[in-house]
Amino acid sequence: MSQQVPQSAKVRHEELCEIVAHHNRLYYVEARTEISDIEFDALLQEIQELEGHYPALISPDSPTQRVGGAPSTGFTTVSHRVPMLSIDNTYSPEELREFDTRIRKLLAGEAPRYIVELKLDGIAMALRYENGVFTQAITRGDGLQGDDVTANVRTIKAVPLRLAGKSPASLEVRGEVFMKNAELERLNRLREKAGEEPYRNPRNTTAGTLKLLDPQQVALRHLEIYLYDMLPEDGCAPATHVAVLKQLKAYGFPVNPHHETCTSIEEVIFVCNRWQTKRHELGYETDGMVIKIDAMDQRKTLGFTAKAPRWVIAYKFPAEVKQTRLNDIVVQVGKSGAITPVAELEPVSLAGTIVKRASLHNFDDLAKKDLRIGDTVEVQKAGEIIPQVLRHVPGKRPADALPYPIPAACPICHSPVQKDPDSVALRCLNLACPAQVKERLAHFASRKAMDIEGLGPAVVEQLVAKGLVHDPADLYALTQETLEGLERLGAKSAANLVEALDKSKSQPLNRLLFGLGIRHVGSRLADIVASYYGNIHALMAAPREELPHLEDVGEAVAESIHGFFQNPDNRDLVGRLHAAGVRMEMVQKVADGPQLLAGKTLVVTGKLNHFTRDEIHERIVALGGRPAGSVSKSTDYLIVGENAGSKQAKAESLGVPVLTEEAFKRMIGSLE
Ligand code: IVH
Repeated sequence: MSQQVPQSAKVRHEELCEIVAHHNRLYYVEARTEISDIEFDALLQEIQELEGHYPALISPDSPTQRVGGAPSTGFTTVSHRVPMLSIDNTYSPEELREFDTRIRKLLAGEAPRYIVELKLDGIAMALRYENGVFTQAITRGDGLQGDDVTANVRTIKAVPLRLAGKSPASLEVRGEVFMKNAELERLNRLREKAGEEPYRNPRNTTAGTLKLLDPQQVALRHLEIYLYDMLPEDGCAPATHVAVLKQLKAYGFPVNPHHETCTSIEEVIFVCNRWQTKRHELGYETDGMVIKIDAMDQRKTLGFTAKAPRWVIAYKFPAEVKQTRLNDIVVQVGKSGAITPVAELEPVSLAGTIVKRASLHNFDDLAKKDLRIGDTVEVQKAGEIIPQVLRHVPGKRPADALPYPIPAACPICHSPVQKDPDSVALRCLNLACPAQVKERLAHFASRKAMDIEGLGPAVVEQLVAKGLVHDPADLYALTQETLEGLERLGAKSAANLVEALDKSKSQPLNRLLFGLGIRHVGSRLADIVASYYGNIHALMAAPREELPHLEDVGEAVAESIHGFFQNPDNRDLVGRLHAAGVRMEMVQKVADGPQLLAGKTLVVTGKLNHFTRDEIHERIVALGGRPAGSVSKSTDYLIVGENAGSKQAKAESLGVPVLTEEAFKRMIGSLE
């Protein structure tokens, strides 16, 4: 229904939106402010009030529309208008000089001008604007097609919802979404409080954030963006890269301030070397520099190879290596008994963080490197993330340093250990080993599993030490009284934990299955298995041969799952969890919707146009069907997208009906 909006309200709304956009631009493009946060919030509030009175004023580019819409079920795949190419890498000044020689040869004597930029370590993103209004954000994906993550990218405050000044009919700009180190630290402090594993690094956290289905959640993690590219449009095709950056800023996009023009490769090398150390002061991650030819006509002359443009190259920083003292080697026992040596290091600052510990992976590796307590060792961060001990410095070994012995018994429970036949891992065989018990409980309570808030390491430690809890089922017998008796746990926290435990009982089967900590069963695989079987009893009764028919379930996984449920102790555990009231099935998404596919098994193959894999699987489950990974006699339908391969041939040979994606849509569409 259309609503009459007084002209004065329209004018004021438009004016307010412009003012807010102006201050946003000042802040994100020029890094300065003219008004206080309070004044800014007051402007936003006035817009909100106007829109409250006159909802017709709400447009997609209103600043109130950053976090909108319900959580989605997946992302649509979108084709890039122009492929998002990758760039070639170099790792030494010598390789940069070779690049320069190539360029000069191809330019036939014409002098190149280089722009040297930071290589931001984030996620590449394409943003589209129609008539000046932000309409779409697409991830790089495979370079040809990416995911439509518009609702998530809209929450990034630095992304202008409308362009400043005169805007072209359509515009695509490209850049990098990333997270500042301080933001990662803030999120990790919250996670630590909640007893959750910290995120490893800003880049992966950014990728994970962009994949969240709920934009509200995305908005809570503050992402940033810098733009560095613009597709030429009719009427707007700057002649140099510097002009592109200038135009991007004029439109209101944030552009990284650290870019320099160089006229010789030695200058380029100088700039790269300078940033190699200075980059740790930036507050966000860079993994190198990007060197681009400035003039567009020269870029055209240079052209592309099959993989990448010839006019650009990345210079990757070598990993920083430092020496420090190996103070101790301690041993950790994981949830499935794997015994891992860990290096305790004299704290050392490395690539922007202080490193105190590093996994030594396994005892074979430790013996090969012959690391001894007291050694001076060289450490680096692999891929800028995980600290690694590379080697010991031979001349600096104390005379009395002894080789580290391979444990003959578990350092925690002293029961015998065994080497895995299929890997180098050393394992404690005692399932009741307190270290294993603690790890299993922590895993059961973790966020992707049963998500029991407040059951952090300190609480688990005490529960196990006091003999109150031996396995996850024991958790559900804990009372407020017992919990209050623990150290550093007040009445309020105890009550919260009891409530969290109670709430966790209704988690769906996929989380329970993941939480049980079955070897090789990660959270994605748990989703697949749980949605196929629907309830734990069907899974426990499943014949061993049936499991490899599921998507991504190989022989080792099938063996592990089947073996787990054959074990009487595990069956008993499931029985006790059931008795405690823990849900043993998937949640029926559309409990009373039409169960058109009830009891039917469907396999999906090929590239789909209308659904992502997760979406179509969810749709099948919602209609009562079971998605499976491979075609067999018991498959009811095969749904085929583009380039369906062997599965289609197999279905046809078995007489399994084959549906195109459109046919499937019609089939379910008639009931929607
Ligand atoms: S230019 C065709 N500039 O690095 C050239 N890329 O390894 C397009 N990246 O996919 C890329 N900072 O995600 C360019 N200043 C920068 C960059 C940058 C980071 C990323 C980008 C690209 C990847 C290639």
